Amino acid sequence: MAYQNIIIETRGHTGLVTLNRPQALNALNEALIAELNEALAAFEADPLIGCTVITGSEKAFAAGADVKEMAQKTYVDAYLGKFLEGWTRISETRKPVIAAVSGFCLGGGLELAMMCDFIIASETARFALPEITLGIMPGAGGTQRLPRFIGKAKAMDLILTGRMMDAAEAERSGLIARVVSPEKLLDEALAAAARIASFSQPIVMMAKETVNRAEETTLSEGSRFERRLFLSMFATADQKEGMQAFIEKRKPSFRNQ
Ligand code: HXC
Repeated sequence: MAYQNIIIETRGHTGLVTLNRPQALNALNEALIAELNEALAAFEADPLIGCTVITGSEKAFAAGADVKEMAQKTYVDAYLGKFLEGWTRISETRKPVIAAVSGFCLGGGLELAMMCDFIIASETARFALPEITLGIMPGAGGTQRLPRFIGKAKAMDLILTGRMMDAAEAERSGLIARVVSPEKLLDEALAAAARIASFSQPIVMMAKETVNRAEETTLSEGSRFERRLFLSMFATADQKEGMQAFIEKRKPSFRNQ
């Protein structure tokens, strides 16, 4: 498929998606979301890809859902058109996805970044859920995910005031994993992705699945789930290879088996 709103590349075993609507600060319209879902599905199906990075431009990761596309929608348009249905598909990806964020990361853009497994941001990144200023509230998981990242007090502050948070505050609050200079952002994200992709793919995917369980269930249920998957890892060739390589003081060569 030829994409109009994103650019797709592969770097070694990493898939790279660059959001590309510069005229609208990468505002997320339905066409972009459909393309993003298609690209992620293709990377997910490609056995050579172990991790994906989603990034935007230096000025904007994404300035939110496309307000111009939404403005005239009626309730019936939104309901019958299944508005937002495709938006949360990224949270169902099984291989890891890293968001590399520079500049504005607002509204639906922040909701998209929070659906990735972790966020690496540049010092110029600005985060907000400004929907309240438009007479709406977040609709792609923002009211649910943000409090899980940064706690209720700060999430309420951000959602009810719509204010922007800089990268330092976002890192202090636990929203983002790392902050780097704008020039280093993509290299840092790609290096993290390459490292992840160098490990056993099924083990990485199980680790991701298990961490995500922590969001969905109780400590005892989550720990039982962890134990079951942990024990199952001893049935893989990659566990044997990983441990044998350690003992033999060499680099492991994982075969995703
Ligand atoms: C459509 C957008 C847009 C958006 C920016 N643009 N954000 N178009 N939807 N979300 C367009 C502008 O209209 C403008 O187009 C061009 O991008 C450049 O933006 P400027 O405003 O001129 O840039 P600047 O002065 O630098 O201000 C940047 C900004 C501001 C602070 C990010 O653009 C802004 O406040 N944008 C809206 C942010 C927002 O409210 N996001 C939440 C959306 S609601 P023209 O044609 O005039 O040059 C949302 C709901 C999600 O995300 C719910 C579930 C999906």
